[in-house]
Amino acid sequence: MSKTNASLMKRREAAVPRGVGQIHPIFAESAKNATVTDVEGREFIDFAGGIAVLNTGHVHPKIIAAVTEQLNKLTHTCFQVLAYEPYVEVCEKINAKVPGDFAKKTLLVTTGSEAVENSIKIARAATGRAGVIAFTGAYHGRTMMTLGLTGKVVPYSAGMGLMPGGIFRALYPNELHGVSIDDSIASIERIFKNDAEPRDIAAIIIEPVQGEGGFYVAPKEFMKRLRALCDQHGILLIADEVQTGAGRTGTFFAMEQMGVAADLTTFAKSIAGGFPLAGVCGKAEYMDAIAPGGLGGTYAGSPIACAAALAVTTLALSLSAAAQSAYPNKAIRVIVPFGAGSTTDIIARAITDKMSQSLGQPVIVDNRGGASGTIGQAAVASAAPDGYTIMIHSSSHTVSPSTFAKLPFDTARDFSGITPISSTPNVLVIAPSKNLKTLPQLVAHAKANPGKMNFASAGQGSATHLNAEKFKLAAQIDAVNIPFKGSADAVTEVLAGRVDYYFSPIAPVIGQIKDGQLLALAVGSPRRASALPDVPTTAEAGVPGSEFNFWIGMMAPAKTPRDVVNRLHDEVVKALATPEVKERFLKLGADAWTLKPEAFDAYIRDEIKSNAAVVKAAGLLATN
Ligand SMILES: Cc1ncc(COP(=O)(O)O)c(C=O)c1O
Repeated sequence: MSKTNASLMKRREAAVPRGVGQIHPIFAESAKNATVTDVEGREFIDFAGGIAVLNTGHVHPKIIAAVTEQLNKLTHTCFQVLAYEPYVEVCEKINAKVPGDFAKKTLLVTTGSEAVENSIKIARAATGRAGVIAFTGAYHGRTMMTLGLTGKVVPYSAGMGLMPGGIFRALYPNELHGVSIDDSIASIERIFKNDAEPRDIAAIIIEPVQGEGGFYVAPKEFMKRLRALCDQHGILLIADEVQTGAGRTGTFFAMEQMGVAADLTTFAKSIAGGFPLAGVCGKAEYMDAIAPGGLGGTYAGSPIACAAALAVTTLALSLSAAAQSAYPNKAIRVIVPFGAGSTTDIIARAITDKMSQSLGQPVIVDNRGGASGTIGQAAVASAAPDGYTIMIHSSSHTVSPSTFAKLPFDTARDFSGITPISSTPNVLVIAPSKNLKTLPQLVAHAKANPGKMNFASAGQGSATHLNAEKFKLAAQIDAVNIPFKGSADAVTEVLAGRVDYYFSPIAPVIGQIKDGQLLALAVGSPRRASALPDVPTTAEAGVPGSEFNFWIGMMAPAKTPRDVVNRLHDEVVKALATPEVKERFLKLGADAWTLKPEAFDAYIRDEIKSNAAVVKAAGLLATN
């Protein structure tokens, strides 16, 4: 082996100052995609991409083709001396992509540090002020000004004496380090009080995601408050996107996810796929604050680097669009806020089994029972609205706003309806020995004997209880609830005639109805049940306004993207059409029922209101 890592290391030590540290004791010979081969022929997976300059991998064919074409045409003129189109084209593309609803202009330079230096120059010229606020843990470069902004002495500025003045340091918000958003804002206010008046501060510079600091994301709420603070004092907000730009955070710029725009944005690193290119993009009026000649550089925005950047932006933009349309690209968690084996759980599993097959990703049921479903609901309300955490819940969803005085979420505001899945009708059953053969007969008997009739329910506040209460209200009768632990006990008591009637789910009583042990007087649902097509609804049988719909449906956190909500809706509709799901529903006495997402949201809002009256009548108000 003529060249070894050890022999090259010796030469390096003799020729290169030690200040240019070396993280790996190896020398690269060639590379392709994410694989690097060293001078001894060993292959390595490249997790660093030359500190993140290679989003597109090594030797990407499209970048090499673009650069080769440019190399054969024009390598250099110095843009300020003799301009060329690729520079202008890169600026146009960046202007269009950087967040901010205002006219923008872009300056191209060579390194990230140079971009940061220039952003400060521009902010100073635009405001006529000299001070800058940077953050703890920040990294902005190794040139003198940027070293002053970088919030880490060892190893970056150790031994070099004091850095340029006029730089003040605020606390970067970081839960892990015990710095809240309030703490961070307070640290800026403290600078205004102790060190420099706001009118002397030209800019606040921040990395939307700190890199060197430890890969910490600035909270959106913080960015909003920082924006407001800058606006209040006429300070420019600089987003240093050198580390985060070019698609490294899922969007082309990290600030696209923050809900506010910076005045100036710096970019570098991945922007040209390994070729040296950097820049500052900002509000046109600020960018024009420096007179001709004050900006630029001999090799700044070289045609070769620009050709590479144009290939990268095309690639990165198409990749990020592809990533967004690739939903789902990982498992989807479906929170069911009841235990395994409950009706909601059985329906959820029937649907999610089918969805797993058609989406090509696991769709996993996660049972989070307890507190009438509100524990699972709270988990969904606070989950990321990305389509990877959703919920299948029952119509208890619209009951808990009235039965709980306080909930850690707002049912109408914090969820987005995808679609109802099923409606499970209850059927009013009574023993033949009671001699009441129709619903009007039962109503007349109850009216003649106020407070004497009783009905079974599968628990206080259960769907069977609420159904009976709604019927009581609409029929204007007085009857007494006898709650049981579940349907089995309730059915036994009604069969024996010890309790008068029961609004039962269909599955536990269909056998007894068929062989005449129980009479089915009506179904409580708005529509007839497919398992009992000859039995009228309570409304049809003379009690309008008594409809009670026990549904099971799918919901997502409120801000889930619309295309994801629509996709999930379509998947449920597809699953419901399969013979396997139809068969399982038949056994459960459940009917398939769907609504468009917007209609489901409206339905939920209405039902929250109508259930409030039933809950009040049933004496179930506010349990906490
Ligand atoms: C946020 C940030 N700003 C500026 C720089 C400096 O860029 P360069 O190394 O190209 O000078 C870096 C480099 O890592 C960085 O991460």
